[in-house]
Amino acid sequence: MNQVLTICDVSLRDGLQNEKTPISTEAKLALLDDLAAAGLTTLELTSFVSPKAVPQMADADVMMAAALARYSSVRGVGLIFNEKGYQRAVAAGAKSVALVLIVSDSLSRSNSGRTADEWLEAYHALVGRAKADGVWVRGYLAGAWVCPFEGQIDPVRALHYADALMSMGIDELCATDPIGHAHPQQVESLSATLVGRYGAEKLAVHLHDTLAFGLANAAAAMRAGVRIFDASLGGLGGCPFAPGAAGNLATEDLVVMAHKMGYQTGVNLDRLWDAVRRFEPVIGRPIGGRSRVWYDGQRAVQSVNEQV
Ligand code: COA
Ligand code: ZN
Repeated sequence: MNQVLTICDVSLRDGLQNEKTPISTEAKLALLDDLAAAGLTTLELTSFVSPKAVPQMADADVMMAAALARYSSVRGVGLIFNEKGYQRAVAAGAKSVALVLIVSDSLSRSNSGRTADEWLEAYHALVGRAKADGVWVRGYLAGAWVCPFEGQIDPVRALHYADALMSMGIDELCATDPIGHAHPQQVESLSATLVGRYGAEKLAVHLHDTLAFGLANAAAAMRAGVRIFDASLGGLGGCPFAPGAAGNLATEDLVVMAHKMGYQTGVNLDRLWDAVRRFEPVIGRPIGGRSRVWYDGQRAVQSVNEQV
């Protein structure tokens, strides 16, 4: 089995989109510098959505352009929903975009005003355009397991939308649990089916840590063959439109577990913790994954890289 994990750090988008205090582009770029210094090469940088709906992402155009000017070799993903978002992303230089298909109609309407089928229809043209332009496309299969309004998602429904997205020719499918209520058996089961259908190189999983299931779910997805994971520095994150959504699985927790399990991530843990420390004053409250207490005790003694 492949022992390399690819981590897509989503702190600059998912991690910050729900923060009420405006964070300057400069502070975001400083975080990007720290993430890049830690060895992260796949990053979701921002979202090209309505600034009225998500004010924290109002600087998407400047952010994407500045980030790509600094790091031409990173995969810098911009989240989009519509043609306007796509045009803004491409104008800012984006070569990678992610679009969001929310599996349950209630969450889809709450988040972005339309049902899953309505978004699917709109995405045909958008994906076609992106493919013609040579833009890499990730499709989020969002809320693949649980909806905050409708509860458990029937896996048959999730698979229907997964197939629909993949049949458009997207480059990667990312199954998400935005409210962090999926449990390991569910995650393993759907992940195994998706890996079997599309191959591990095309499948990512995106987890939140609301009920402290983040690492258990990541381990379950790994058992099913998943090798691409989203995570957010410091466990930052949440969705303004999904009640009860808490932070993402923390990048540092995932890296600690992955290294202990013998996976390579290319991430330097000491540098990652530097990033947590430096971003904490910007956020204005303590951040850091569940390994923070251990880290604070250990770092004074020796490098955490040497311990995992
Ligand atoms: N970039 C900037 N502004 C946009 C936009 C985009 N990609 N898409 C729509 N808008 C603006 C329109 O200009 C319009 O502004 P106005 O009221 O000043 O005229 C307003 O949003 C409504 O436009 P409309 O075309 O009716 O879009 P919509 O209401 O169907 O919006 C979404 C669809 C999804 C783009 C919008 O609801 C949105 O951005 N939601 C946020 C979703 C999100 O980020 N969720 C969290 C991550 S999953
Ligand atoms: Zn998320």
